[in-house]
Amino acid sequence: MIHPASIQEVLDRCQIEEVVRDFVSLKRNGANLIGLCPFHNEKTPSFSVSPTRNIFKCFGCGKGGDSLGFIMEHENLTFPDAVRFLAQKYRIQLDETTPTETQLEDQKQLDSLYLVNAFAAKFFEKELWESDRGKQIGLTYLKHREFREDTIRQFQIGFAPESGRGFTDEAIKEGYSLELLQQLGLTNSAGRDFFSGRIMFPISNMSGKIIAFAGRVLASNTKTPKYINSPETEIYQKSKTLFGMHLARRAIQKENECILTEGYTDVMALQQAGIAPCVASSGTSLTRDQIRMIKRLTDNVLLLFDGDAAGVNAALRGMGLTLEEDLNVRVVLLPEGDDPDSFLRKSGANGFQEYLRDHAASIVEFELRQLLQEAGNDPIRRSGVITQIAGTIGKVRSPIKREPLVKACKALLQVDEEVLNFEINRQLRKDLEKSAKAIDFYEPSTIQVPEGPSGSLTLGDSPQERDIARILLLAGNQWMNPEREIRVADFILQNVTDVLEVFDHPLYKEVLELFLERAQNGKDFPESTFFLNHPQQEIKDLAIGFVFSPYVFSDNWEKRWDIFLTQKHPDENFVDDARKSLARFRLRKITRLIEENSKALRELGETHVRFAEHIKLHIKLKQIQMQLAEQTGTVVLG
Ligand code: GTP
Ligand code: MN
Repeated sequence: MIHPASIQEVLDRCQIEEVVRDFVSLKRNGANLIGLCPFHNEKTPSFSVSPTRNIFKCFGCGKGGDSLGFIMEHENLTFPDAVRFLAQKYRIQLDETTPTETQLEDQKQLDSLYLVNAFAAKFFEKELWESDRGKQIGLTYLKHREFREDTIRQFQIGFAPESGRGFTDEAIKEGYSLELLQQLGLTNSAGRDFFSGRIMFPISNMSGKIIAFAGRVLASNTKTPKYINSPETEIYQKSKTLFGMHLARRAIQKENECILTEGYTDVMALQQAGIAPCVASSGTSLTRDQIRMIKRLTDNVLLLFDGDAAGVNAALRGMGLTLEEDLNVRVVLLPEGDDPDSFLRKSGANGFQEYLRDHAASIVEFELRQLLQEAGNDPIRRSGVITQIAGTIGKVRSPIKREPLVKACKALLQVDEEVLNFEINRQLRKDLEKSAKAIDFYEPSTIQVPEGPSGSLTLGDSPQERDIARILLLAGNQWMNPEREIRVADFILQNVTDVLEVFDHPLYKEVLELFLERAQNGKDFPESTFFLNHPQQEIKDLAIGFVFSPYVFSDNWEKRWDIFLTQKHPDENFVDDARKSLARFRLRKITRLIEENSKALRELGETHVRFAEHIKLHIKLKQIQMQLAEQTGTVVLG
């Protein structure tokens, strides 16, 4: 454990500029520094460092944070290791406590679990290679599938005897406790072997320690499942495990690609053929943890799908996560009836590699082809395809990475780019609204209200709400007037409460509520630095984004940098900024209330008893709208 004071010291002494300069060449740009982002490929610099705020932010890939965050990302380190890394650079002596008694106890307990598994693996291996039944049925089966002896040994494949107690008896005789055997699921509650008459595949963690087993039946006609697995334990969580990772990790890093298959035997076959960067998800769709394990090693994934189309769609459904996590995923569909193992045997290693090269398509393109094939010539179903594929592309966070995907799909779909982009944006907005859990009887506005100077970086934002959040986070605790009577946040809060329920964006609303809560409890408003290090990632990212992009509107890069250079930072200008933003925000919301009310008027009809009430409200809202329009210099239509 690193002492918190030590972490603080590292953070205090670390200059983001100095840390980043070790890896990125930076040029001065006003108060900030810019350079090429080390986290994604780019030609124009969108990676920015603010020495005064001590943070970095990339507009291309969206990554941002402090020195520790930078090192974690750049060096693939955990938080404590990043602290150690920087401590070394700044020659800071870390105060690290040695593990406590109980921590040592826990470690001992874990160690004994690994020991039991290691013993079990040895036992099963011995059964396979030396016992009559093991040799007769186990080894014969594996050899029939053309696995070489060295491969079988490399994967520590074994055989569980059919007696139903051979393993447990031997383990007890060797002094392993029944309790541990049961805890690991090797022995059942009746004291008998859990695995019997099965080929045993040890499952290892990253460092190669055996954490669980999978046992495959030999006979294909039995009613028992093909595979049974150890239960989850303290050392085995299925969702955090990828089969073969300990053998493949080096190769994945070196070749900068991870080949993902479904089956244990596929991994064995590929490894045997010298195709090393290969792991298996073990028949389930990928989890976020598994994706992150891969992402620490590479950004490129090649998915191999068995040639039976049935599973493909189900598997595709789970792949959205890989896009969200920003992986480049390509897919290969193997010939019908083949899985990687059987196809490899047919085609040989070279033929196999060639096939992969020729048939790999981006996952989005693959899904699109799949959908189009299903839709056939039915025009209604084809338009449904646009909706579906837009949803998939929308999962890719970076607009820059979306672009080539849109281009590829546009050609296949034979529609304009705008059609696709429109649909992507529409869905992004819808997703936001869904997650807002907000009262959604307000239809999204269709009236075009001219936007203020601060547009949105991400699609689907409400720029006016974004403005309010921006001012609150950056200048909420500043004085609004020279007499120091009212803070900027007070001024804003007083002016938004009547339209609070039409706040759409969940994150911006959260910011507002955070300030509201403080005001209601008589607490001080936090400084902007508080948000730049906020424990909640979304708020932290938002604040960092605001610091760097006070006036960002389009994805037109040059223009963006121009504006960035010439505009006054809102910090220096926050009173005026707050007034203007607030007026724009209110105008937007009032306009929406008017629309809503007009709709009600139309629906009620003139004869309804409440018609007059709505008319009065309409007039009142219109008055406010005109005043606001004047303040913001906006012309209101209609
Ligand atoms: P072979 O049929 O020997 O080639 O095995 P395989 O590993 O290729 O299996 P398959 O392609 O049928 O399934 C892929 C993966 O899904 C397997 O490696 C297992 O991880 C998992 N799996 C398949 N069937 C079962 C089952 O009945 N139970 C469990 N728990 N997992 C299964
Ligand atoms: Mn198989």
